[in-house]
Amino acid sequence: MIISDNIKYIGVNDREIDLFEGQYIVPNGMAYNSYAILDEKIAIMDTVDVHFTDAWLDNLAQALDGRSPDYLVVHHMEPDHSASIARFANAYPAAKIVASSKAFVMMKNFYGTDFADRQLVVGEGDTLALGNHTLTFVTAPMVHWPEVIVSYESTEKVLFSADAFGKFGTWDADEDWACEARRYYIGIVGKYGAQVQALLKKAAALDIQTICPLHGPVLTENLGYYIGLYNTWSSYGTESDGVVIAYTSIYGNTKKAVERLAELLRAGGCPKVTVNDLARCDMAEAVEDAFRYGKIVLATTTYNADIFPFMREFIHHLTERNFQNKTVGLIENGSWAPMAAKVMRTMLEKSKNLVFTDTTVKITSALNAESEAQLESLAKELCQA
Ligand code: FEO
Repeated sequence: MIISDNIKYIGVNDREIDLFEGQYIVPNGMAYNSYAILDEKIAIMDTVDVHFTDAWLDNLAQALDGRSPDYLVVHHMEPDHSASIARFANAYPAAKIVASSKAFVMMKNFYGTDFADRQLVVGEGDTLALGNHTLTFVTAPMVHWPEVIVSYESTEKVLFSADAFGKFGTWDADEDWACEARRYYIGIVGKYGAQVQALLKKAAALDIQTICPLHGPVLTENLGYYIGLYNTWSSYGTESDGVVIAYTSIYGNTKKAVERLAELLRAGGCPKVTVNDLARCDMAEAVEDAFRYGKIVLATTTYNADIFPFMREFIHHLTERNFQNKTVGLIENGSWAPMAAKVMRTMLEKSKNLVFTDTTVKITSALNAESEAQLESLAKELCQA
């Protein structure tokens, strides 16, 4: 990946990983990005995951071409980026470690040292002159951890954005950016919309021509598109018109109701209907869809006087990420004491700006004329809303 004559990509692609951050499937792997700014002084931007330290040090040595780095800038302390700091520090003992004060505390906690004799603590607005290039640091707490800083290089107009604008997949994965960036963003940073909004406000004051994130490809064109999506996601806005249906089904009766509803919605002219079986789909994909569309239907069975476990987990994923601003329809099934709708409503009661449809569909084991009619009225409401 070529960025410019003086800014080199030295990151690595991870094609072996099974679960990113111990929970997200990444069919196209993951990139741990790192960059070298070569000037009178040399700054290295972040390190990589522990499994790739050797490959990264090789990339670094190649970029340095016999020179020695002056600074290692640590934007974020999560180990996918910080795990190779100690090896770097040993290999280049004259280099200073540049990070926020919170990052140095984490460094000591994670790796047993905060490099007290080589620290350069930076905060909001601090600058680091490298020669023709100058870095300005911008704090970005909770995007994705509290210690995060991003940096802006004003000569080439590059934003080193830490986890922001990253995605799942190796940097060269041939796939739609938005799909895996959305799943990544909602999964990992979704809870912190307000903090991302704060960062976007600061970024709006900068003339940015290139975004160098810690994951995924470097972004060089049409930056308004990516920034616009980040604005929608972080403000919990509706990205796509349509309805997402998330369901669980034990013997297929709730599934039948969901399929019927999807049919009715399509026939009613709903622009897009997406259906997720929560027991079988990638949960992160279903969560991403819930935030993407403006309307959602939750369909589940009553189970142990509660709801089916996959639905409970799903709603928890939503509420912990500040799920809000949606139209919500409910379908419950229960053979003797249906209470799933009540449980789901209670789980969502602290979520802001949810509008529940007037119709709640109640199935007592299998669809009948009454519940069929409720599905029709739910579809009507959702198509009109
Ligand atoms: Fe890519 Fe939050 O670490």
